[in-house]
Amino acid sequence: MNHRRTKKATVYDFQPTTETMRDDVLSGLARDPKILPSQYLYDERGARLFERICETEEYYPTRTEIAILRQNMDAIVNRIGPRALVVEPGSGSGLKTQLLLDSLKDPAGYVPIDVAKQQLTDFAEQMDRRFPDLNVLPVCADFTNAYELPSCGSEVRKRVAYFPGSTIGNFTPEIAVEMLRHMGELCGEDGGVLIGVDLKKDPRIIEPAYDDAAGVSREFALNYLVRLNRELDADFILEQFGYEAPYNEACDRIEMALVSQCRQVAHIEGVSVTFDTNECIRTEYSYKYSPAEFAALAAQAGLTLIDVWTDPDRLFSVQYLVPQ
Ligand code: AVI
Repeated sequence: MNHRRTKKATVYDFQPTTETMRDDVLSGLARDPKILPSQYLYDERGARLFERICETEEYYPTRTEIAILRQNMDAIVNRIGPRALVVEPGSGSGLKTQLLLDSLKDPAGYVPIDVAKQQLTDFAEQMDRRFPDLNVLPVCADFTNAYELPSCGSEVRKRVAYFPGSTIGNFTPEIAVEMLRHMGELCGEDGGVLIGVDLKKDPRIIEPAYDDAAGVSREFALNYLVRLNRELDADFILEQFGYEAPYNEACDRIEMALVSQCRQVAHIEGVSVTFDTNECIRTEYSYKYSPAEFAALAAQAGLTLIDVWTDPDRLFSVQYLVPQ
């Protein structure tokens, strides 16, 4: 008789509290210009909407990165070698990770780290079923804050921080350097960082990716307000906010923002916040880099670029960095 092994992944929980979210949101809205910190875009619905963005015709990064991984998987696998522990900050729903773990030689374990707890739990269970012999150790945390890595319990030859999707582009360059330094520390002297980096290109290709014709990007941004209404007892009127995502060529970044359509006051846990007509509330940046610019950024974090894989149109890149 065939016994199917079933295991349930234990989630190591460092999820930010509602109080942290309230403090972050209120201090962001007290700034001029106002911001809403981007990590809170990804509640369960936000995470699902983001997956839908990835499937839109206009959003080229996901399909291009998957094609680069498929095309270069042998070189990537040889670079990483056997018995690697793969640590993935901001794991999302992970088709790219499945591709990597499918191909790696005898991986020692997989640590997905994500702030959306339900999605993380579902994904960890899915990975458990798909890779029954792999140690799956999910950590629920905002990966920009402190958390502890669980111990793997089997031989690990190398730790690899895996950061696909160009999530690094959602941080300002200063914070991106800190993130890269953190990833260098995660992987240690003998490890490496496998990272997806979206490349600079004609803004006419970039802008529609962040403001698709079907309006999924807009719905994703507006979902921030839905979340604040639900979780922080806020009273935002969704119809009174628009969405824009222009490319700022001087700063090499997309600037996603909600735009107040009129002069209005919203309340968040009793605190009043006034918005002027056409006032923008920034929800997210998405920086684009040339390979040389990204290598310089990585160098500031003590990492050396040793491989760059890209697509024929040089839209996107997958890079491998090692501590200097
Ligand atoms: C997660 N990250 C890489 C996306 C990007 O392309 O910057 C976030 C995003 N937000 C709206 N569209 C895409």
